[in-house]
Amino acid sequence: MKKLTERVSWVGKVDWELKHFHGDELSTHFGSSYNAYLIRDAKNVLIDTVWTPYDHEFVAHLAEAIDLHDIDYIVMNHNENDHSGALPALMKLIPDTPIYCTKKGEQILRGLYHEDWNFVNVKTGDTLNIGENTLHFIEAPMCHWPDTMVTYADKEQILFSNDVFGQHYATESLYDDTVNLRDLFREAEKYYANILNIYNPNVKRKVDELVAKNLPLKMIAPSHGAIWTDHIKDILDCYQKWDSNYQEDQITIIYDTMWQATRRMAEAIADGIREAHPETRVVIMNATKDDKNDIVLETFRSREILVGCPTVNLGMTYAIAGILEMIHGMKFRGKKAAVFSSFGWGGGAEKRIQQRLEEAGFEIAAEPLKVKWAPDSEAEKQCREWGKTLR
Ligand SMILES: [Fe+2]
Ligand SMILES: [Fe+2]
Repeated sequence: MKKLTERVSWVGKVDWELKHFHGDELSTHFGSSYNAYLIRDAKNVLIDTVWTPYDHEFVAHLAEAIDLHDIDYIVMNHNENDHSGALPALMKLIPDTPIYCTKKGEQILRGLYHEDWNFVNVKTGDTLNIGENTLHFIEAPMCHWPDTMVTYADKEQILFSNDVFGQHYATESLYDDTVNLRDLFREAEKYYANILNIYNPNVKRKVDELVAKNLPLKMIAPSHGAIWTDHIKDILDCYQKWDSNYQEDQITIIYDTMWQATRRMAEAIADGIREAHPETRVVIMNATKDDKNDIVLETFRSREILVGCPTVNLGMTYAIAGILEMIHGMKFRGKKAAVFSSFGWGGGAEKRIQQRLEEAGFEIAAEPLKVKWAPDSEAEKQCREWGKTLR
């Protein structure tokens, strides 16, 4: 337990070991945390729990902080397993405690745990007075999951925002002012690019609505990573940038290679771009060797991506196919793309890659560039010229 204010404590779990999340879908280089909070007011409220592997630790530590029977209400802002995973262990001990969540939240909890708990459905505008504080519930559907909501404690001036504004960033010290800010904001951006970008319109609507409410805020307390205190305005500003089809003057070249021909093409294309557009940042990433979520992050930052691999078995390599599926899922808009490929006899990768990029919503900026066998100096020149023509 760590005290945040006179009445509010952090009762979550820091997961220093976590390197993969959502199965293997998301890398978490800095670990993560599952933040749960306890409000001790006239009534006592637990906000969210932790992931299942830590359920018994969580319940034991919570029982040290408060007699579990003194918990009057549980608020579940979002019911994905990383936040609801300790509910079954907790509810065994306090089975009648009301669980406040959205209607969708109840459906998810019933679907995951098949228990007939004491659910109380709440929606935007509903409040719960717990003494000095009134809790204000604000639904944020599809700002990640259908059940997502955030809860504002008005006396404390804390917004419990669950996954929104989160970062997979393990920290012992809890607050944004005591961690490495560059790492923290990078993780917040990676989180946005890989988890929230798909729901941009919903996030934009909700964040604009929250900002317009002009709630007094001492803390934004998410369910992962550091609590925002000194940088509340900065993270709100970032979200308002990120949720509007974000891009920088960056071109990212994503390639895979078997015998180095496509790598050499990628590097020659980068030379051409640099020559024609010295102001543009060029990032080169190997789809097999670089972290897939870092590639998605660099795609998020880019105004254009170039994707290339050799033709193998008439199609593309598995790493390029995988990364294209991830990029497709994030629904990037307002970005361009072009394809390059090396081949020996038939070719074919370029068509399939371009088709996937079109399906993913990219505007195709140039005809695919193809090189037969290994590039000679003439072919390298052709790659540089192709790079120069990209806008
Ligand atoms: Fe989630
Ligand atoms: Fe989460």
